[in-house]
Amino acid sequence: MKNIKTTPEAHIQHQLISEIEVGLLNITPYISPKFLYDPLGSHLFTAITLLPEYYPTVTEKHIFSEFENEIAHHVGLGGTLIDLGAGNCEKAKSLFPSIQPSCYVALDFSKEYLEDSIKKLQAEYPSIQMTPIGMDFSKKLSIPDSVPSNRTFFYPGSSLGNFLHDEAINLLRQIKSQVRGGGLLMGIDLMKSDEALINAYDDALKVTAAFNLNILRSVNTMIGSNFNIEQFRHLVKVNHAVNRVELYLETLEELTVSWPGHERTFQKGELIHTENSHKYTINSIQKLLEQSGFSSSTIWTDPKQYFAVIYAK
Ligand code: AVJ
Repeated sequence: MKNIKTTPEAHIQHQLISEIEVGLLNITPYISPKFLYDPLGSHLFTAITLLPEYYPTVTEKHIFSEFENEIAHHVGLGGTLIDLGAGNCEKAKSLFPSIQPSCYVALDFSKEYLEDSIKKLQAEYPSIQMTPIGMDFSKKLSIPDSVPSNRTFFYPGSSLGNFLHDEAINLLRQIKSQVRGGGLLMGIDLMKSDEALINAYDDALKVTAAFNLNILRSVNTMIGSNFNIEQFRHLVKVNHAVNRVELYLETLEELTVSWPGHERTFQKGELIHTENSHKYTINSIQKLLEQSGFSSSTIWTDPKQYFAVIYAK
């Protein structure tokens, strides 16, 4: 291996590499969706949010603007806003005028992309204290003690939907234990027709296909593998048994992928599972919050009940 790092990040890098290897070598191969968000993947995701078929972003935006005052009333003014998966920070920015945070802490898996976003945002809002943190909170969320209390954890876009039931509860409990007088402001995607779901996750421009296939480029960079994107296609399934949309990469031919120390052969038509996007009902999300220790929640939704915004304490 060239370029051996001795910084603490080398240790994290190592963990991520073995996480990818375990998934690729599993009988039913998978890659964690967090590897979708390398710098190009983050841009492709932003492009997805601009697609008319991808209803979550627009619908959530409408809910936030329609109920802006009520939401601000629940959250309270002048506290700390902690953005879980900030990306381009656009969603948090749209809350600044109504909730007027004194402190904005932005977390994201992709540190480079986040630091760029924060630099621009800080110039626009010099009076808000801003801190970017590159963190993979999918297993452990730990907010530094120095971050002021009255914390509102902001978790929009139904990102919670990437997690399995137990993982979601684990994350929600960790949030609850760190709110310090604040709460959780979260966007959640609701169950709907297969047609609307398939349209949203297999769009006509093939942006979602590019986003999904890009995970192979991201993995090639991370572990030094030789995935050839042209040997795969984007595949979407709706799994009704567990209320979720599933994303896969399907091999178009038999192929062997290798990387330092390992190789794996895939049969034609084999699937690599890359993402779960769970869909909830008002009932199921309330139950999940209760099980995670939240004692009260307020829910706002759109007329079609496609999406919901929740404030929980
Ligand atoms: C960011 C996880 C909420 O599940 O809708 C969008 C990711 N994947 N299109 C989602 C995604 C394909 C998105 N989340």
